Amino acid sequence: MRIVRTVAELRAQVATARAEGRRVGLVPTMGAFHEGHLSLMRRARERCGLVIVTLFVNPTQFNEAADLQRYPRDEARDARLAEGAGADLLFAPAVEEVYPPGFATMVEVAGVSEPLEGVVRGPAHFRGVATVVAKLFNMAQPDDAFFGQKDAQQALLIRRMARDLDMPVRIEVCPTVREADGLAMSSRNVLLDREARSRAPVLYAALRGMEADVEHGERDVARLLARARAVLAARGVQAEYLAVVSTDTLAPVTVVAGDALVALAARFGAVRLIDNVLLHVPMVAP
Ligand code: PAF
Repeated sequence: MRIVRTVAELRAQVATARAEGRRVGLVPTMGAFHEGHLSLMRRARERCGLVIVTLFVNPTQFNEAADLQRYPRDEARDARLAEGAGADLLFAPAVEEVYPPGFATMVEVAGVSEPLEGVVRGPAHFRGVATVVAKLFNMAQPDDAFFGQKDAQQALLIRRMARDLDMPVRIEVCPTVREADGLAMSSRNVLLDREARSRAPVLYAALRGMEADVEHGERDVARLLARARAVLAARGVQAEYLAVVSTDTLAPVTVVAGDALVALAARFGAVRLIDNVLLHVPMVAP
């Protein structure tokens, strides 16, 4: 695996792969790799002849300077793991390579960027995500790009951006990878202290409870949410948000019919965790 730091080097590698007729796959990341990232890389390896992993802690998507500062960074470890998962190229640019002096253009995806994480993290967060992903797509010009379902709102926003701006890339959203106790893998999990780590699996337990309630016939969102909040409260956790929303617009729904997304965020001290599940209730023809 090669490590490249400039757009020019990246483009030269992509041009060679294209000349050889290889399909180009991109896995955008901010590093601190865990099984979730590695599963995206392995999936890219299955589908593509050139697998590019990007490693860039994107400053424009952090709304708290402290959060950006304490974001875990270990390039040597990440490089080893990416190579083991089948990456051909690790693109690890400096901040100035991505945002040169005078940088002035941002990408904003209206609508789906606004609720949930958009409320808590503010409009700058998803503007930063959309901008850096648009730039990475332009830099690497991939055929396929791989994202995790754990960041469901981000994945929806990126799909919308690619569609709206006619970006010729296929977006693949891969399943959330979980610890044995159900906690969704996240680079932030290492920041949890022992006590918080022991309580954090309640997030998925609450979501699983909602899935089970729907399987048993519950369709009323207010009742589903009340039971899930009680599950969280039993472990001393209060959701920052817990919502059942449309998978297409992220607008809240009151009755589960067809597909819906349950999105959950909670704080464990200074560490914010998010998780989600998809609900599916077959629509009955009238
Ligand atoms: O999901 C992430 O790690 C980041 O938001 C992404 C997509 C790499 C953009 O910086």
